[in-house]
Amino acid sequence: MTAFDRAPRYQDFALPDSLGPHEAVVDVLAVGLHPRVRSQTDGSHYTSTDELPLVPGIDGVARTPDGKLRYFILPHTRLGSMAEQTVVDLRRSVELPDGANPIQIAAAMNPAMSSWIALRRRIDFQPGQSVLIMGATGNAGRLAIQVAKKLGAGRVTAVGRGADRLSDLGADATVCLDGDERAVSQALGEAGRDVDVVIDYLWGQPTHDALCAIVPRRVDDGQVLTWIQIGSVAGLESSIPSAALRASRLQLVGSGQGSVSTRDIVAALA
Ligand SMILES: NC(=O)c1ccc[n+]([C@@H]2O[C@H](COP(=O)([O-])OP(=O)(O)OC[C@H]3O[C@@H](n4cnc5c(N)ncnc54)[C@H](OP(=O)(O)O)[C@@H]3O)[C@@H](O)[C@H]2O)c1
Repeated sequence: MTAFDRAPRYQDFALPDSLGPHEAVVDVLAVGLHPRVRSQTDGSHYTSTDELPLVPGIDGVARTPDGKLRYFILPHTRLGSMAEQTVVDLRRSVELPDGANPIQIAAAMNPAMSSWIALRRRIDFQPGQSVLIMGATGNAGRLAIQVAKKLGAGRVTAVGRGADRLSDLGADATVCLDGDERAVSQALGEAGRDVDVVIDYLWGQPTHDALCAIVPRRVDDGQVLTWIQIGSVAGLESSIPSAALRASRLQLVGSGQGSVSTRDIVAALA
């Protein structure tokens, strides 16, 4: 990338002359094209420092000089992973088991880690708790259904446009956001009446609408409702009704790069 308003181009670039003690030049096999990478390439990601030129890509699967396959995440760097070779700090990588599919791993790790880390690092999630996923139709949301189940969620409700197609991923219930506004609100309220944790990839208007639908219908005012902000595909900002914070035990939490330390993210990779 040489400008944020132009598409990337293939071109040659130099690798650094010297490497740090834990660094290696690796052959890249597969790279995830996550929303995070797309926002890196137009400079809109919240961590962007506008430094150019840059090679995009934040993670991937590579073959290291010892012949092993590793999934890696890069630090903040202009030398990204969308290249034949890149420089990896091996402490920020994990060896893959035999038979692992590099493409699946590269595609799935970033979206899967979003819910895995949120539930394991940002809140005290307990097996048996009920989870509702806002924006369950995307890569991260579809994996969140499976992650929540794997971590012992008692009930998982998948919410999204066309969410009825998600039952085969293990969701116990689905709420489609497309359709009559009142019916959607009713369905959301019913689904959220005793939910413990919301994993939110949407934000924007859908989050405002969901809070308006859910809070008045809560069965037990004393039950904590932990709302984890993870993505913002429907809007960077959302207006939170003040009454929602007074009328329920609503707790707003975020999860992502920064609110979870790099050390904790790396520790969770395996
Ligand atoms: N904080 C973290 O650790 C972390 C990690 C990974 C991802 N994320 C964030 O999580 C979000 C989702 O990532 P992803 O990988 O799942 O992206 P994705 O695969 O591109 O999926 C996005 C989904 O959002 C849906 N969508 C878009 N606009 C919508 C709207 N207005 N209302 C309802 N649904 C809407 C799309 O469904 P349609 O088919 O209906 O358009 C699509 O299924 C992104 O914001 C990403 O940056 C955060």
